[in-house]
Amino acid sequence: MSLTFDLQRRPDPTSDERRTEILADPGFGVHFTDHMATATWTRDAGWHDARVHAYGPVSLMPSAAVLHYAQEVFEGLKAYRHEDGSVWSFRPEANAERMQRSARRLALPELATEDFLASLEALVQVDQAWVPAAGTGETSLYLRPFMYASEAFLGVRPAAEVTYSVIASPAGAYFAGGLQPVTLWVSEHYARAGAGGTGAAKTGGNYASSLAGQLEGIEHGCDQAVFLDSATHTYIEELGGMNLFFVTDDGRLVTPELTGTILEGVTRGSILELAKDLGLTPQERRIEIAEWKDGVRDGSIREVFACGTAAVVTPVGALRWEGGEAPSTAGEQGGEVTRSLRAALLDLQYGRAEDTHGWLTRLA
Ligand code: COI
Repeated sequence: MSLTFDLQRRPDPTSDERRTEILADPGFGVHFTDHMATATWTRDAGWHDARVHAYGPVSLMPSAAVLHYAQEVFEGLKAYRHEDGSVWSFRPEANAERMQRSARRLALPELATEDFLASLEALVQVDQAWVPAAGTGETSLYLRPFMYASEAFLGVRPAAEVTYSVIASPAGAYFAGGLQPVTLWVSEHYARAGAGGTGAAKTGGNYASSLAGQLEGIEHGCDQAVFLDSATHTYIEELGGMNLFFVTDDGRLVTPELTGTILEGVTRGSILELAKDLGLTPQERRIEIAEWKDGVRDGSIREVFACGTAAVVTPVGALRWEGGEAPSTAGEQGGEVTRSLRAALLDLQYGRAEDTHGWLTRLA
């Protein structure tokens, strides 16, 4: 039976003045709407107690399994306001299916696609005033569904009680510099994921394990780190929070193939499709880090960009590593293909282009 998220409206919502102030400069991931959606799963009763209630602290026992064994998965997607005031999400069923795959890998229960969609719709409908107005640049309501082992138990086994929630956060650009290219550091000492591990799942541990590499990058004046395969330290994987693409001099759009250690980004998949609309040849294959270093020098790599739900399409500039640097091909604001793909994606998401792929779902 599918879930119905009962509305328990909070009596003390944010004032219109304060919300307007927040929406004028939302930042990323710092402000949250008045409500959240939650459902509970137990081994005996399955999913139940679905509700939309006041956003606020969660109550967990210090022995809750997630705090010890990181049995947790999450998703990220956005709600976009269109010119006519309606609110839409982009391929939310792809996020639902990925969350099911992530849950299977982390031995968590699966949430049916219709229940995942119902939770988004219920939350966005009650908090729709928090979706930034159309035409305010790259602003949206970022939705963060997540699921964790809330059972108070220290034995190492799949939890018998799990909590699913969705929170929502009005968002501007993920990178404060906007289209300014990001500089990347090659993480040679730290890997993000290994064969047979959880790299393809959207689980907090992968992000935690990317932080030391990212810090190393920041110490070397870079914005983000690029992770290589853990077996040979040769092949490019991803940035930890974003996938990577390369535009070659012969019109190909190349991205690392999914090897089980890379997150299958919804934006990544969408760009592979949009590339064809723009006359590019998409290619998923293994790419050596040496190909990047050499390619920007000999001209065979014309552009590099990173992509993800939060960061959309972000131009990549210089690549640095211990003792070396490959120059940027991105100019001030990214190359032509990067900018065209970014515009094509944003035009679709904000309803400025026809949704020929059937990727939009109305939420409010
Ligand atoms: C997203 O792009 O939605 C993510 O989950 C990545 C994170 C860096 C914000």
